[in-house]
Amino acid sequence: GRSPSAPDRPVPIQPGSVQQEGAQQEVAEDGAGIPGAAGLGDAYFKDAGNGGYDVAHYDVALAYAGPKTGSVDATVTISAKATQHLSGFNLDYRGPEIVAVTVDGRPVRYRREGQELTVTPASAIPAGRAFTAVVRYSGRPGPIHNESLGTYGWVPSKDGAIIVAEPDGAPTWLPVNDHPRDKATYAFRVTVPKDLRVLANGRPGRTVPDGATTTYEWAEESPMASYLAMVAIGRFEVRETTAGGIPVITAVDPRFKAAAKELESLTVRALKWEATVFGPYPFATAGGIVDDPRLDYALETQERPVYGGFVPDEDFVVHELAHQWFGDSVSVRDWRDIWLNEGFATYAEWLWRERGKKDSAKKIFNRYYRQPAGSPIFVPPPGRPGGADRLFGFSVYVRGAMCLQALRDRVGDRSFFTILRTWADERRHASGTTPQFVALAERISGKRLGGLFDAWLYTKAKPKKW
Ligand code: ARG
Ligand code: ZN
Repeated sequence: GRSPSAPDRPVPIQPGSVQQEGAQQEVAEDGAGIPGAAGLGDAYFKDAGNGGYDVAHYDVALAYAGPKTGSVDATVTISAKATQHLSGFNLDYRGPEIVAVTVDGRPVRYRREGQELTVTPASAIPAGRAFTAVVRYSGRPGPIHNESLGTYGWVPSKDGAIIVAEPDGAPTWLPVNDHPRDKATYAFRVTVPKDLRVLANGRPGRTVPDGATTTYEWAEESPMASYLAMVAIGRFEVRETTAGGIPVITAVDPRFKAAAKELESLTVRALKWEATVFGPYPFATAGGIVDDPRLDYALETQERPVYGGFVPDEDFVVHELAHQWFGDSVSVRDWRDIWLNEGFATYAEWLWRERGKKDSAKKIFNRYYRQPAGSPIFVPPPGRPGGADRLFGFSVYVRGAMCLQALRDRVGDRSFFTILRTWADERRHASGTTPQFVALAERISGKRLGGLFDAWLYTKAKPKKW
């Protein structure tokens, strides 16, 4: 190994030598590498994501048999890079039976335990080396049912399936490094019976009919968190238009046919307005999907939000589209910072109402502020919601948005909107943390804002002064 006095330059890796690449990296004495960690250290999801590698791209080839069986045959090809000398690594996966796993074309040993799929190649992957893992699986995926988070993941519908995977539902249908810290691009090739259609994130590619089936290609070309990966299979009425030059593709289940036009025009109006407030739309395409299963929530699936079983009103559309800037383009680095998504998207709704002139964000703040201190809009504090089951509680949304109004009051409109736009711009297609947002707000406003953010994000009680 390197003695403390050794010159500070890379030491060539020799069999049997001890390498030292980084502080958190332990080293195998025999040079065989060390296994990647089974989690990324998220405050609320200890199994989410994995250490030792970084995914650049997922290629998802999936054949769906139809709603009768609901079964799939899938091949997911993961292009990744080792970030340590890697003897083996984990993927997060809770889907149907695995048929085979290969790494760089060679079959490898694998083991499943809980949501951890542990893959052990015959020889270690050197740090910095690109590699390709292929997982083939077959069977019937299904959703997670959770008392506080509801139904999510791969959700069967009457005529197909829809994916809404926030926060940790992606492994229901994909072997994946399931954490927003490891964003990647995606390609989808989904084969379905020819009477069905497929939509997904991003840009449509070819539609290839082949006898009784049709294959639909879609590509998400911007980095995307795994919980935002979405495929919608079924019968849909599809519409295409543009908003400020951005292609807008919307789709509704036939049950909601009557709302197809309105979804499209509302999506276009909201997108155009949001670009004036938050800065240029961060992705190549946009849209929205109303599907059949009654989930009673929406998800900001990248480029194309999903509305689960209802026709969204203006608040919903404005909210999910605001997430394209705040949540999708700028992702959380830890799920505990979820207010950076939900507080911002909720504040976008208030700004939309303010634009309509009948109300103002400040008036909305004031009405909420009159609520009793113990109200679920105040408790738990949005910066520390307390656990996975509290991620989407009222306080994360409402008190999170109130925090932004308090900031706006303190720094003035000019600085406030510069802060929002700069956050979206500087961290575009990347991620951010609460301390980074506070630092940005202080930099732009020139004010000390620690007390304000402490009061609104972290104090247990309803803030009294800030
Ligand atoms: N982020 C979604 C929204 O815009 C909520 C997702 C809720 N997820 C769930 N499994 N219930 O508000
Ligand atoms: Zn939201």
